[in-house]
Order: sequence, then structure tokens, then C-alpha cells
Amino acid sequence: MSRRVTSIDWVAAKVRFIDQTLLPREELYIDTDDFRIVGEAIRSLKIRGAPAIGVAAAYGMVLAVNDGRIRTDADCAAAFNTAWTYLAQTRPTAVNLFGALARMRGAFDRSCPQGISAVRKELLSEAQCVQQEDIEACLRIGEYGAALLPPGSTILTHCNTGSLATAGEGTAQSVITTAARQGKIKRVYADETRPLFQGARLTSWELLRNDIEVTLITDSTAGYVMQQKRVSAVLVGADRIAANGDTANKIGTYSLAVLAAHHGVPLYVAAPVSTVDFATASGSNIPVEERHPDEVTHVAGQRVAAEGVTVYAPAFDVTPNDLIAAIITDRGVLRPPYTEALASLKNSLVR
Ligand code: MRU
Repeated sequence: MSRRVTSIDWVAAKVRFIDQTLLPREELYIDTDDFRIVGEAIRSLKIRGAPAIGVAAAYGMVLAVNDGRIRTDADCAAAFNTAWTYLAQTRPTAVNLFGALARMRGAFDRSCPQGISAVRKELLSEAQCVQQEDIEACLRIGEYGAALLPPGSTILTHCNTGSLATAGEGTAQSVITTAARQGKIKRVYADETRPLFQGARLTSWELLRNDIEVTLITDSTAGYVMQQKRVSAVLVGADRIAANGDTANKIGTYSLAVLAAHHGVPLYVAAPVSTVDFATASGSNIPVEERHPDEVTHVAGQRVAAEGVTVYAPAFDVTPNDLIAAIITDRGVLRPPYTEALASLKNSLVR
């Protein structure tokens, strides 16, 4: 049985989210009717993971137009635009954020001729669709991905791609939990995922809740466990997949991909179609977020680095398409060459 966490939801006209920065020590749910609190939560990784960020931004837009101080159509448009700009500036890499905001803009444009209450209704219904589509996408990714894994699989994963990172069962982690239910998973190695420990804090917690054997390793142990032939596949998520298959994901994914190629281990990327950016030709055009140096110099609020050292802290890296064995989407498994595979996926969506 799946024990998935609802990371983000719409409850009694408020956004409810779990504060992921406190896990696994504390399970704190926050209810808010303020889009700025949602935006701040995205920026500070209380809400994180590409699909969850998209769902949160969609509901943040609903909060913005529900503001009781709105009296006129002009107030409503101003509130919409202010929130849209604010939320769009929270994190630059996960394309789900921009996809969700574009959908909310479409909902606004469709409904604004009918007035404020139509806008409120249409935006809520669109945000609920974004959430529901992600729940269903996660289930399909799990099914498609599990079919690739043989019994006795030992998986190495990076960052957190579970129910915390999505509205549903997860992406790469949905593949793991689905395959585990089919009795195919022997063990999962979870990279701790420096600097913010999504693997140590979140993935380990989620996998243990699902009774999956998980072993935590430091990021720099990944090469050694592959050399020891302890890993049969690497499974990761994505924040943005370019039209040629180049994939931005949590910093350290590229290193894993190089190691996996060297050791003949397949690296699979699992992501919903909402994470594909068909408008970006290749990985070199993907904006990569840089985080505050304190996230590297400090651990749990304590400085560990020498005073005065400079820091480079990209949150993501880009794995070139030739290091990816397959991209597992909610529309099926894509194989190289990805430019062609993604173009035909795009065509199938517009039909
Ligand atoms: O900085 P984060 O924690 O938001 O980074 C998240 C990741 O890199 C995930 O792998 C990605 O968003 C896919 S989540 C289903």
C-alpha cells in the first residue's frame, strides 16, 4: 500500500502545504490564503520539486484573485498580474512553474470578460486540473518505469522525487514504489544530496514509510557503489528537459550520469510531459539557479566552512542527452534520438 504524503493541497479556500525544510524532524502543515507566503515557501524550498512547485504556483494565483479587497475588474487584473510576476520570480529552473503560470494566464484571459466571480471559479478549476493531471501522470510514470526494471533491481537515486516533490506518487520515486509493489526492488541507494540533504531528509523518510530498503550514501560514494556493482540502474527526476533531451536536475546528476556511463549502468530520467520545455532547444539554454552561499557554508544553521571562502552554489546541472538511457514520461518511455522522440511526443499532444 502506498503511504504518500500530500505535499500541497487546496483545503477550505486555502493552500495547505507541508514545510519540507523541517522534515523529517517535524511534520508541520501550513495553511495560507496569501500568495506571497506560497511564493516565499517555493523560494525557501518549504515547497520544492518541479511538479509540486507548479501546483503551488497555480493555487497561489487562485489566492491572489480571491483577495477580499478586490472590488473591480481592474483590481482583479492588477492582483493577478502582481502575483503572476512575484511567483514567476521564485525559482528559474523548474519549467513546471512557468507552465502552470501560463495555464493560469489562459484561465484568466478566458474568464475575465465574465467578471470577478467567473475569474475566481475558472482559476480554481484550472489549478485543480494542474494538480489532478500531476497525480495521474505520476501513476503512469510509475507503471511505464517499473516495466523497465527486472526483479532484484538495486537503484541509485538522487535528490527527492517522491510525493513531496509532486502532487502524487512522485516521478523517479513512483517508478521505485511501483516496482517495489511488484516485488522487483532489492535495495535503493539514496544520495544524501548536498547541500540541502533532500536525499537524507526526504527520500530516506519517504522510502522507509513505504517499507522499501534504503541505504543512505554521501554523494561522493556513488562512484564506489557502482564500481562494486551494487547498482543496476540510476533513476532521477528532472526540473526541465530541453527539446533535445538534455536534462536539468539537482546538482550532482551530471556526475552520476558520467559515472553510470563509465560503469555501464543505465541512467533513467523520469518526468511528466509538463517538465518538457519544447521551446528550449538544448540544455545550454536552460537557466540554472544559483543558491545563497550560506546553504553551502552552513549545515543545520552552523557554519562549517572557513570564514572568507568564496562559494559557487548552482542548484542544478544539465545532463547531456547522450548519457540518458531513456526518459520515462506519463506518455510512455522515450529512447534516443530524443530530438525525434520528443518532437513526435509534441505532435501527439497537439492532435
Ligand atoms: O531544489 P529542489 O529540491 O526543488 O530540486 C528538485 C529536483 O532536482 C528534483 O529531482 C526534480 O524537481 C524532480 S521532482 C519530481
